[in-house]
Amino acid sequence: MKHILHVVGARPNFVKAAPVLRAIRQLGMRQTLVHTGQHYDRNMSDVFFTELQIPEPDFNLEVGSGTHSWQTAEIMQRFEPVVLERKPDMVLVYGDVNSTVAAALVCAKLLIPISHVEAGLRSFDRTMPEETNRIVTDRLSDLLFTPSEDGDANLLSEGVPKERIHRVGNVMIDSLIQFLPAARNIPKNGFPDRFALVTLHRPSNVDDSQNLQGILDSLMEVSVHLDIVFPVHPRTRQRIEKFGIDAEKLHLLEPVPYIEFLSLQTRAAVVITDSGGIQEETTYLGIPCLTLRPNTERPITVTLGTNILVGEDKKRLGAELRNVLAGKAKKGVIPPLWDGHAGDRVADILQRL
Ligand code: UD1
Repeated sequence: MKHILHVVGARPNFVKAAPVLRAIRQLGMRQTLVHTGQHYDRNMSDVFFTELQIPEPDFNLEVGSGTHSWQTAEIMQRFEPVVLERKPDMVLVYGDVNSTVAAALVCAKLLIPISHVEAGLRSFDRTMPEETNRIVTDRLSDLLFTPSEDGDANLLSEGVPKERIHRVGNVMIDSLIQFLPAARNIPKNGFPDRFALVTLHRPSNVDDSQNLQGILDSLMEVSVHLDIVFPVHPRTRQRIEKFGIDAEKLHLLEPVPYIEFLSLQTRAAVVITDSGGIQEETTYLGIPCLTLRPNTERPITVTLGTNILVGEDKKRLGAELRNVLAGKAKKGVIPPLWDGHAGDRVADILQRL
């Protein structure tokens, strides 16, 4: 019997791994789940495991936070003995976080086959730490599961042999489709009728005091016309406090659980974000998305979906918001294979090989 070991560490990993774990379980393969502990707060980790019905991890490496090199190295040191003990036939890594690249490096050194779920995405922006993680993980992977055509094209242009690339669709959308009915059932909980949903956590937006102040100032201007609902990532909360920024008018919330956040997305008039996954979720839901980044590794959300890159341009943000409020938001379509069965395709391919 094949033995598959999954590595997850940060919030978006949990959403991506859940449908793959389920599909592999249904095929009866042996599985081990390793949580690196990159995210550890209850509402960044445990709540997601419960809601997404992910089994308790077999190992929690409890790595915690640190610089990128420290965190990556620490995960490698703690993960190596687990792989040596469990001897899996294949290790699955997800997305582009530090846990992803750390686990891939360990497996590459031990000659254990690696599958990368959400392979091939490129922002072509090396200032973004995730871009390095994507490039290195893809280079080391034996099987590359891509969500969209652009992923295949990027990998082929980097010389990855065609037979290693499998376009399976978007595993994050599998979770969305599964939990959408539950999200729609959540009561409104006193949220305003019409609101903009905001998330912000990219180092390029929140680690520099002037950038963060500029973005929060723009949001405060927006809040004059439209209520803002803003669940704040711990990293962003720390920076707001450290820089002494007065963001009281924005009614900052704690990070919200997965299904509640999905419910907020379905009800939002517009989503303003710098997240990767949220660009995809809004495209699926047909909700306008204004992305506070100059580029995206998910271009299909712009070409087919509802996403607009507004970068750091305050005027552009204001203009696009006025469009949305005037009922002239960009319309989109759901990209091919974002159909709720990406995890099944991954499991089928792993079983066949
Ligand atoms: C990480 C990923 C990013 C992903 C994001 C989703 C990398 C390089 N970045 O960014 O790609 O979009 O997760 O959320 O892997 N912290 C807590 N509690 C936690 C986790 C973090 O307070 O449970 C604080 C710590 O002070 C930490 C900071 O948040 O230093 C940043 O956490 P980290 O995991 O380094 O990066 P994220 O910004 O979460």
